[in-house]
Amino acid sequence: MVNYKDLGLVNTRDLFAKAVKGGYAIPAYNFNNMEQLQAIIQACTETQSPLILQVSKGAREYANQTLLRYMAQGAVEYAKEIAPDGNPIPIVLHLDHGPDFETCKSCIDYGFSSVMIDGSHFSYDENVALTKKVVEYAHAHDVTVEGELGVLAGKEDDVEAENHTYTRPEEVEDFVKKTGVDSLAIAIGTSHGAFKFKPGTDPKIRLDILAEIEKRIPGFPIVLHGSSSVPQDLVKIINENGGKLKDAIGIGEDQLREAAKSAVCKINIDSDGRLAMTAAIRKVFMEKPAEFDPRKYLGPARESLKQLYMRKNREVLGSAGHAFDK
Ligand code: G3H
Ligand code: 13P
Ligand code: ZN
Repeated sequence: MVNYKDLGLVNTRDLFAKAVKGGYAIPAYNFNNMEQLQAIIQACTETQSPLILQVSKGAREYANQTLLRYMAQGAVEYAKEIAPDGNPIPIVLHLDHGPDFETCKSCIDYGFSSVMIDGSHFSYDENVALTKKVVEYAHAHDVTVEGELGVLAGKEDDVEAENHTYTRPEEVEDFVKKTGVDSLAIAIGTSHGAFKFKPGTDPKIRLDILAEIEKRIPGFPIVLHGSSSVPQDLVKIINENGGKLKDAIGIGEDQLREAAKSAVCKINIDSDGRLAMTAAIRKVFMEKPAEFDPRKYLGPARESLKQLYMRKNREVLGSAGHAFDK
């Protein structure tokens, strides 16, 4: 049993309370490898933003859960080392889309400070029962829990949903009360991946449903998944350098900025980071076909990811400068 506090991590409770009060959202960035982790820590340290580091089931399978946990522990030490005044940004280690109780328990026992139990694909009653079980175990270890109501379209790990099922505002109060969750992920039109909307449409998220949910559970921390904006300049670089990403469309950053000012206090971004890294790598491969040192293409990919996430923190989430809010 490893306690996350011994690793220098924090849970989400205080961070979310401050984010709701301050009208910004905390970035939740996924990582699977060292370059992503370095870029995330550098970006959040340079912008002085609090940070939620996310590990998905896919990441655990790809990189090995033991290695990922030690990497997160190393990330805390690295954050101390590069902190301008020796004061590191607060870091949460979070399980993204926990599929079952056993995975959540294993992460809690292994030093995670926050877990998501994604029961959104089950019936309402099954979702309540499963989420409650995870909350009971997590809270006994002072670990915070994110639940989900409503189904996002797109692919999440092994689960694929054709259509959105928007969160029903009339269910949220009961769900929060019965389960004891610390935050709630909702479905209001965001979706996972780089192909979120049909071309030629004017994609909008349902800020009206968000407002209705806020009315039912005022000030309760809300989470938005599937919040990549799919920057078209990155898609263009990929396609100009041998890529084939047709009709990749994301959520407008203006809409996310609007949502972040409300009780939305955690915004999940992964696909945009993948695009930034892929664009940089493709460019190196195209311009320098003789290059074969991984540092020569992973280095630019890391820098491009860092620049993207610094801009997200400043212009989209509004989290820059809020690492040490009182
Ligand atoms: O929600 C999904 C995240 O982007 C993680 O993706 O399951 O491919 O690691 P992954
Ligand atoms: P994107 O695919 O839009 O980046 O969403 C990531 C996410 O929701 C991780 O949980
Ligand atoms: Zn997600």
